[in-house]
Amino acid sequence: MSGGDGDYGPGTQVVRAGRRPEWTGGVVNPPVWRASTILYDDVADLRQNGRGDTHHRLYYGRRGTPTQWSLADALTALEPGAEGTFLYPSGVAAVAAALLAVLSPGDELLLVDSAYEPTRALANGLLKRFGITTRLYDPLIGAGIAELIGPVTRAIFMESPGSLTFEVQDVPAIVAVAQARGLVTFLDNTWATPLLFPAIGRGVDYSILACTKYVVGHSDVMLGSVTAGPGRFASLRDASFQLGQVASPDDCWLGSRGLRTMAIRLRQHEESALAIARWLAARPEVATVLHPALPSCPGHETFVRDFGGASGLFSFALASGGEAERAAFIDALALFGIGFSWGGYESLAIPADPGRGRDADWPQRLVRLQIGLEDVDDLIADLERAFAAWRAAI
Ligand SMILES: Cc1ncc(COP(=O)(O)O)c(C=O)c1O
Repeated sequence: MSGGDGDYGPGTQVVRAGRRPEWTGGVVNPPVWRASTILYDDVADLRQNGRGDTHHRLYYGRRGTPTQWSLADALTALEPGAEGTFLYPSGVAAVAAALLAVLSPGDELLLVDSAYEPTRALANGLLKRFGITTRLYDPLIGAGIAELIGPVTRAIFMESPGSLTFEVQDVPAIVAVAQARGLVTFLDNTWATPLLFPAIGRGVDYSILACTKYVVGHSDVMLGSVTAGPGRFASLRDASFQLGQVASPDDCWLGSRGLRTMAIRLRQHEESALAIARWLAARPEVATVLHPALPSCPGHETFVRDFGGASGLFSFALASGGEAERAAFIDALALFGIGFSWGGYESLAIPADPGRGRDADWPQRLVRLQIGLEDVDDLIADLERAFAAWRAAI
C-alpha cells in the first residue's frame, strides 16, 4: 500500500478529491471564488504573473479560480493516470473542445453510430464545414475498426454504452488498434463515470463527461469536463483557452457538491435500475430491455468484463403499438417526469427513436428511463399504472 488516495475506495475518493487546504482555507467545501479581474500590486507584479504557465495561478477570471481548479483536480484524481481536466459550460461544449483540440482540416474522424445525437450533429455540421470528414462505425465493431482506418484517419470517438440503445463497446480492443496506428481516442464516459469505467487507465486519451448528469446529480446545472491522458492536457487546455471556454464558478461549486455523494448515489441508481429492468424484462407488455447488465443488451459480455457496475439509465421497447400507444404509456406515469437529461435524483421517461439520425436500421420505438432515488416499489407501481393505460390504448 502506498497510502496515496488512489488506494482508497470510490466513496472515499469522491469525498477527498480536490480539497486542497490552500483552496478551501479550512472550510470543508471549496468556496465560490467569483472573478473576472485579478488585481496586482504593481506593473512588475502584473508582468511577472502573466509569464509562463498560469495553471493553478490567479491571473484573469477566464483562466479560472480555485473553485474550478478544485473540481477539475477532483475529476483528474478519479481517473488514475490522467494528466489534467478542463471544465466546460455543458457536456456538448466539452465534446466540441476535445474534438477541436485534436482534429485539423483534411482529417477523418471515426464516430460510433450510437453516439449522442448532438455529437453527431457537431460532426456533420461544424467539423464538416472545417473540412473534417466523419465515418460512422458499428458500436460492436471491436478490433474490426482496424479495417476502417485510412490514410487521413486521425481519431476515434467512442461512447459506451451508446446513447438510447446502450450497446457496450469493446473499448480496450479499439484503444489497442488506435495506439498501434497512432490515432487519438475519445470516450464519452458520462453513463459510467470514472467510478464504473476508469477510461484513462484503459488507455483512452480523452475521457469526456456531461457533468450535468451524475457529477452534479441534482438536475439544476449544465457542466462538462474533459480529462486528458498522459501528454494530452496541454493541447486540450490551449484549444479551450483559444475557444474562450470557462465554466462558471457557481456551477463548478455545485458540481463539487454533487461529486461528494456521487459514489453512493450511483450505487442506489444501479440497484434500483437493475430491479426495474429485471421486472420489465419479465412483463408481457415489453419486447426487449436494453440495459448493459442484462444479457438482452448488445455487448453485455463486454460490460461484464470491463465495468465496475451500472448506472441508472436504460431503454426498453413495448411489445406492440405505435407512437400514440407509447405516448399513452409515458403520459400515464406520475412519478417519472417527462424531460431530457438524466443523472439527477429524480426519475424520468422519454420516447426515444434511435432510427432517426442513425445509419443502422432501428425500427423499434423505445422508452428511455432514468431511474432516480425514489423507492423502487413506488416506481414499479407507477409503471404498472402506465401499462394499464397502454393496454387500454392498444
Ligand atoms: C451521453 C451524453 N453525452 C453528452 C451529453 C451532453 O451534455 P449536456 O447536456 O451537458 O450538454 C448528454 C446529454 O444528454 C449525453 O446524454
